[in-house]
Amino acid sequence: MAKIGIFYGSTSGVTEEIATALQEKLGKDLCDLFSMEDDFDEFSDLLEYDYLLLGCSTWGAGEVQNDWRDPLFEMEVEKPDFSGKTIALFGPGDYVSHGMHFVGALGVMYDIFTKLGATVVGAVPTDDYTFEHSTAIRDGLFVGLPLDEINESEKTDERLNRWIEILRPHFPIEDRVLAGASA
Ligand SMILES: Cc1cc2nc3c(=O)[nH]c(=O)nc-3n(C[C@H](O)[C@H](O)[C@H](O)COP(=O)(O)O)c2cc1C
Repeated sequence: MAKIGIFYGSTSGVTEEIATALQEKLGKDLCDLFSMEDDFDEFSDLLEYDYLLLGCSTWGAGEVQNDWRDPLFEMEVEKPDFSGKTIALFGPGDYVSHGMHFVGALGVMYDIFTKLGATVVGAVPTDDYTFEHSTAIRDGLFVGLPLDEINESEKTDERLNRWIEILRPHFPIEDRVLAGASA
């Protein structure tokens, strides 16, 4: 069975919680979980997987979380080949305090991984979100799954479940029943 690698960067633990929830929903047998801070050595770790769920919160003004900075920089320089890899992106932001740069990190990740040849799936309609501006939108859709644990934590579980249905045709999860899914 093809496995999914979930890699996340998280400063205050929010993306870590979301990544852990994704692993629990999809099953630990199917998903390996890696913290970019503690478990990541080099970008070849990512290339071990054909299916990747990449989690990154947004910091600064629309920038990627700290633990992703160096690996992304190295990948932009070294240009590893991600063709044949299926990637989906997720990440929390804060639409109230940072509504001008809402989940911008997802847009940065999207641009880098598509340039490296990856197929990035899991785009999400913007209608369920309130924000002023986001650089994570392409063709009218968020390039991945935005979450906001500060202002809308009550929406996270349902957003994750809906997103998994969007991912289902693209990831080896076709028949998987979600753990803890509401009907
Ligand atoms: C200094 C600072 C800058 C931030 N910048 C942004 C931003 O530009 N866009 C955004 O959507 N959220 C921004 N946030 C909100 C974080 O992304 C949010 O708190 C997130 O849940 C943190 O996740 P983590 O603990 O996994 O790193 C910022 C938060 C702080 C404290």
